[in-house]
Amino acid sequence: MSHFLLMISRDSIEEVRSRVDIVDVISDFVSLKKSGQNFKALSPFNNEKTPSFYVVPAKGIFKDFSSGKGGDSFTFVMEHEKISYIEAVRFLAKKYGVELKEDKENNEFAAEQSEREGLYILMNFAKDYFKEKLHTHEEGRSIGLSYFRERGFTDKTIQKFELGYALDGWTYFSAEAIQKGYNKELLEKTGLVVKKEDGSTYDRFRGRVIFPVHNLSGKVIAFGARMMGKDKNQPKYINSPETDIYHKSDVLYGLFQAKNSIRQHNNCYLVEGYTDVISMHQADVENVVASSGTALTEEQIKLMRRFTENVTVLFDGDSAGIKAALRGIDLILKGGLNVRVALFPDGEDPDSYSRKVGTTAFQDFLKNSTKDFISFKADLFSAEAANDPIRKAESIKEIVNSISIIPDPVKRSVYIQETSHLLKMPEQVLLSELNKILVQERRKGEKATNRETSSKETETASIETIAPLKIDSDAMVHFQEKETIRLLLNYADKSLAGQDQQEAQSLGQFMLQELDDVEFTNPVLKSIFIEFKEGLNDNSIRNTDYFLRHGSDAIKRMVTDLITQRYDTSSHWGDKFHIYIPKETELLDKLAYTNVLRLKFRIVQRMMEDNLKELKTVEAGGDLDKLEKCIEMQMGLKQAERDLASILGIVVSK
Ligand code: UTP
Ligand code: MN
Repeated sequence: MSHFLLMISRDSIEEVRSRVDIVDVISDFVSLKKSGQNFKALSPFNNEKTPSFYVVPAKGIFKDFSSGKGGDSFTFVMEHEKISYIEAVRFLAKKYGVELKEDKENNEFAAEQSEREGLYILMNFAKDYFKEKLHTHEEGRSIGLSYFRERGFTDKTIQKFELGYALDGWTYFSAEAIQKGYNKELLEKTGLVVKKEDGSTYDRFRGRVIFPVHNLSGKVIAFGARMMGKDKNQPKYINSPETDIYHKSDVLYGLFQAKNSIRQHNNCYLVEGYTDVISMHQADVENVVASSGTALTEEQIKLMRRFTENVTVLFDGDSAGIKAALRGIDLILKGGLNVRVALFPDGEDPDSYSRKVGTTAFQDFLKNSTKDFISFKADLFSAEAANDPIRKAESIKEIVNSISIIPDPVKRSVYIQETSHLLKMPEQVLLSELNKILVQERRKGEKATNRETSSKETETASIETIAPLKIDSDAMVHFQEKETIRLLLNYADKSLAGQDQQEAQSLGQFMLQELDDVEFTNPVLKSIFIEFKEGLNDNSIRNTDYFLRHGSDAIKRMVTDLITQRYDTSSHWGDKFHIYIPKETELLDKLAYTNVLRLKFRIVQRMMEDNLKELKTVEAGGDLDKLEKCIEMQMGLKQAERDLASILGIVVSK
């Protein structure tokens, strides 16, 4: 590598360095939000839900707390694009129009490049070659260019997407590449040339129009090639195979051309094909990408998430289209994104429809036909479900199923409310359906990880705890404190069956010991709790009578409240549906145990919320050391939250 460094003079590198603006550089890849004097974003290196990626323009550096990566503009480009230092210099030189004299494409140079760099260079050469054939070769013009024109592609579009044409012959391209000095091995590695068993080779793309696939920085990494005639024996598109620089599942067609618009509109349209992307650009909708024939992948969703949280899925109105849409929706929800959907009339795709109705009507269609995924699913089933209670139940299940996939519990609760309004179903019914699914999922997960914990145990725990989803951490702590005191008041002297028969412990002993270092927030509950602790010390367990006799008015009121508040409303539906509901007294061990954990869980969540507030202030100040401390603290708390949650069977956001 080092001799490449020598090929670019220090002066040139310095000149590049003096021109770069780190915010500008990083903005090409990551959607930055201003935060005080700095900028922040979701880490492009990790999948995270809380931004921990910072850019400090004053110092020209970035820091990614989630992966530990950090450095200047060059480092960022190297890390992000997985390229060498020298490639990063070239990249930034090009971006800022700094001329590097040695940067002439010479073939000897190409041969010496590292393999990935070689692949990029050859793909770039091929792209230029196909473009040139489209525009200047007679066959390209008469067949390729006229095909694009017939499809209504303008010159501007053809340029923007760098469309091309591959001549109809077995070796036109390879002959020219070899003549230019590219070696055969590299040609095979790009997939542009195919090797036969006898060792001879031929061009992969022949007599087809070419759609280059770009990576995020605009480099060509693959091609799609469409046939023009109607030969039933050939596939409509032939695509590049996977290579070191092209992993199909990590790529979205059109993202390079779309990324600014996606950021600007804070929404990304997802379509199926190359031509859908292109036609939508012509209809002035530029925030569009295609999964290009592959079923949508998690990687592709992560990729979108770097630019927006909102995805609108556009699909054919035929049944295959709907199926694909449904599958896509769930995957996108799982990725933590918000999903909307628009279905095109049967048989139309965005390309055909936009050309059929024109730009204005097309844009109106998008505006008016786009639905939230809940309405989409509800409508899909409602036609059949209207007079059929069984179908209605099924459609509710369908919707709640999708909701259960959403990782963020707060979002889940919002969607449950929305569904409740839309379907005129009580929230409680939907919640219990949701809980059922979450518990089932958990069980599946447990089976998968082969842990032999009793799933019954987690079931009762999770059903109640997931229900109050509207999280206000103070309220949740308060609720849990009350629950602790309620258990103590009602069952403090009851002995727990426990693990150890000899050392039978009372519920009071167990809970007070476990919560020894916990400070209650609510003053009334706090004084009751302290009384209990004192009682434990002089071996007289406090009970309801004690508080009702000796307590202050506030204490008396609280105690009365807590001992009369009973939970047996549920036996009502239990009887009705023949579901056996264990009495609280049969579950004391578990109740005591989970209550302790839940209180701690809620306290951790409150600490996280406080720390997050602190983090915001620190951020505005721009002190990176303090910031790092806050973020470390947050991650530690998050871990604690996760650990507690996993014991409790609560699903928390990532
Ligand atoms: P479509 O058949 O919908 O193609 O496949 P299209 O993009 O609408 O193309 P036109 O409008 O007929 O020209 C959707 C996508 O699936 C992939 C391509 O990426 C295509 O854009 N595909 C399709 C293939 O890779 N191979 C095929 O043979 C067909
Ligand atoms: Mn089409």
